[in-house]
Amino acid sequence: MHFNPTRAPWRPGLNKKYMKLFDVYPINDITIVKAKGSYVWDQEGQQYLDLYGGHAVISIGHTHPHYVQRITEQLNKVGFYSNSIRIPLQEQLADKLGKVSGRPDYQLFLCNSGAEANENALKLASFHTGRKKVVAFRKSFHGRTSLAVAVTDNPAIVAPVNQTENVIFLPFNDDAALEECFAKQGNEIAAVIIEGIQGVGGINVAEAGFLQAISRLCKQYGSVFVADSVQCGYGRSGKFFSHDFAGVDADIYSMAKGMGNGFPVAGIIIAPELHAKHGMLGTTFGGNHLACAAALAVLEVIEQENLIANAAETGKYLMDELKKIPQLQRVRGKGLMIGFDVPEELKDLRKNLLWNQRVFTGEAKPNTIRLLPSLALRKKDADEFLEAIREEIHTMASVVVK
Ligand SMILES: Cc1ncc(COP(=O)(O)O)c(C=O)c1O
Repeated sequence: MHFNPTRAPWRPGLNKKYMKLFDVYPINDITIVKAKGSYVWDQEGQQYLDLYGGHAVISIGHTHPHYVQRITEQLNKVGFYSNSIRIPLQEQLADKLGKVSGRPDYQLFLCNSGAEANENALKLASFHTGRKKVVAFRKSFHGRTSLAVAVTDNPAIVAPVNQTENVIFLPFNDDAALEECFAKQGNEIAAVIIEGIQGVGGINVAEAGFLQAISRLCKQYGSVFVADSVQCGYGRSGKFFSHDFAGVDADIYSMAKGMGNGFPVAGIIIAPELHAKHGMLGTTFGGNHLACAAALAVLEVIEQENLIANAAETGKYLMDELKKIPQLQRVRGKGLMIGFDVPEELKDLRKNLLWNQRVFTGEAKPNTIRLLPSLALRKKDADEFLEAIREEIHTMASVVVK
C-alpha cells in the first residue's frame, strides 16, 4: 500500500499530519544526490563546486574510491561491536594517527563528534588537575554539549543549565590579559582551550607568540593546554595541527570533522604526562569498526596523496589570488581554511555565488565568507572559483552602478 503521510489510520483522532523535522539550520533548497572530489550534483544534474565541504568535513574529497572501498569491505565483515571486545582497527588507527600527527607517544580516545571530543578533553583536564576553572577566548566555538557550549562565546546557545562560573573568557591573542589571569588565579585553572584558527568566529588565526605563552603558562601552573583542532586540524591548515605553526605541543588535541570525511568519528589525543586512567572516559559508539575503517582510509589517502602539502600550496595560491581582488577585505587564514570580509554593497555575494555561479562556500556572521574545501582541491578548481567570484563581483558592481 502506498504510504500517505497525511493520514495515520492506526491513530484515529490524531490531528497531526506527520512528524516534522526540528529546525536546526537555515537551509538552501538544494538536494544533493551525487558527489565526487570537490564537486556535488543536485537532482536536476546541476553541478556545484564545493568549497564548503559540509562545514569543513570533507577532507580527502567526496566519495574517494579508496574510502568507499574500505568502508564497504568493513561493512561486509563487521560494522559495529562495542568496546567490550578487542578492536585491532583502533590500534591500527592510533598507530597511523601517531605517525601522521607526529605524536606517537600520545594516547587516543575515540568518540563521535567535535563537541564530545572537547567535553572529554576538558573533563580529563579537570580530573588530572583536580581543578574547575577553564580559560576560553572571545569568539570561540567548541560545540553544543554542556561544557563545550559553556566555553563557547555565544550566550544565545548556552541554556541556563549549561551556565557556569567556572569559565573565564579572555580576549583572543591578548598576551597581557592571559598573563594577568594566570598571575591572579593560575593555581585554579584546569585548562586553557583554544582553536588554532577560530572557525565559526570568522577565521581568526591564533598568533604563534600567543600559543607559546599559553604553553608556557600551562606548564608553569600545571594547567592543561587543550588545542581544539576540530575544524582547523587534520591537515587543513597545511600542517597536521594548525597549532604546530607555533612549534608548541598541547597536552590534548581534540579532532573531528575531517577525521572521517563525513563518517561521524572524533577523538582526543592525550600527552603521556597526563594521568588519564581507566574509568575517566567511556563511550558506546566511539571507535567502532566502521568509524575506524573510515578514519584509517582518510589517513591513508592524506599520506598517499600528500594532501597536507597540497592544502598548504593550493591554499597559498588561492589566498594570494584573492588578495588581488580589491573588493575583498582582510583575506586571511592558513592552508585551505580561508576567510575574507565582504563590504556592505556585496553582502549578497555568498548567496549569488551559490545561485548564479553554483559554488558552495561557508559564512561567519556578520560579513565573512569562509572557504573550507577538500584538502585535495586542485589548482584548476581554485581557478574556477576565482573566475566565478570575479565574474560575480563584476556583475554585482554593474547592478549597483545602474
Ligand atoms: C572548532 C570547533 N570545535 C567544536 C565543534 C563542534 O563539533 P561538532 O559539531 O562535531 O560537535 C566545531 C563545529 O563546528 C568547531 O568548529
